[in-house]
Amino acid sequence: MTGELSPIDKAKFVAAKRAVDFVEDGMRVGLGTGSTAAWMVRCLAEVVRQDGLKIRAVPTSTRTAALARELGIEVVSLDEAKWLDLTIDGADEFDGDLNLIKGGGGALLQEKIVATASDQMIVIADAGKEVGALGAFPLPVEVIPFGWQTTKALIEEMLVSIDVLGRSTSLRMNGDRPFVTDEGNHILDLHLGRIGNARQLAMVLNQVPGVVENGLFIDICDVVVVGYGDGRVETRDINQGTVETEKLDFVESENLFRDID
Ligand code: A5P
Repeated sequence: MTGELSPIDKAKFVAAKRAVDFVEDGMRVGLGTGSTAAWMVRCLAEVVRQDGLKIRAVPTSTRTAALARELGIEVVSLDEAKWLDLTIDGADEFDGDLNLIKGGGGALLQEKIVATASDQMIVIADAGKEVGALGAFPLPVEVIPFGWQTTKALIEEMLVSIDVLGRSTSLRMNGDRPFVTDEGNHILDLHLGRIGNARQLAMVLNQVPGVVENGLFIDICDVVVVGYGDGRVETRDINQGTVETEKLDFVESENLFRDID
């Protein structure tokens, strides 16, 4: 079954599998959203099922909540958990300081709330997500539907004085309708090419009326687990300043690989 996986899916899988090693019995765990996070939910469910690991999980989207419940992971709300030991999530880009762009899947708001309410955030990613400077991936910004065109114009005006390469913005669509987030908002994607000062941009964006949150995660991620298509994983801890490399085996498991689309 694993022979059918593409190198990029293998990379996502090994990163996810390695990150699950950080989860300990009794922990409250934030579950990210996206294809890499879905691998992590599957790997975590295996440990819950096989080893009897007891955890309570807070998902960052309705999609992740449905997957976690389906696989037998106990799901609670963030208000029930109040604070989390650990969040494991994917990213669209990460840089050398482990700052991130997230929100390619449209779940950045819950993802940022959950990651911020965690003692530790671990990002799982294939090696292609690493960049020298953030911004090649369009930056998602969640905006309320009311007056979104005005909000878009205000963001474009603000970008004139910001150190970026490109300044076009687009409303994310779902077919012929605007994409709607779990909170009923829209997403503007900012095509910036390269962001000179991500910290400054993150702060300025959130001052525009109508902006709910932006997809820049600054000083939130503690550890990145980078996966490679040959099974290698590199675990970088920004606080400890450590880098560990190992090689994982692909383990055949019907539970892990069923219903993967
Ligand atoms: C979801 O809103 C995003 O933040 C995802 O975490 C990000 O897009 C990574 O997704 P993949 O793991 O599918 O690349």
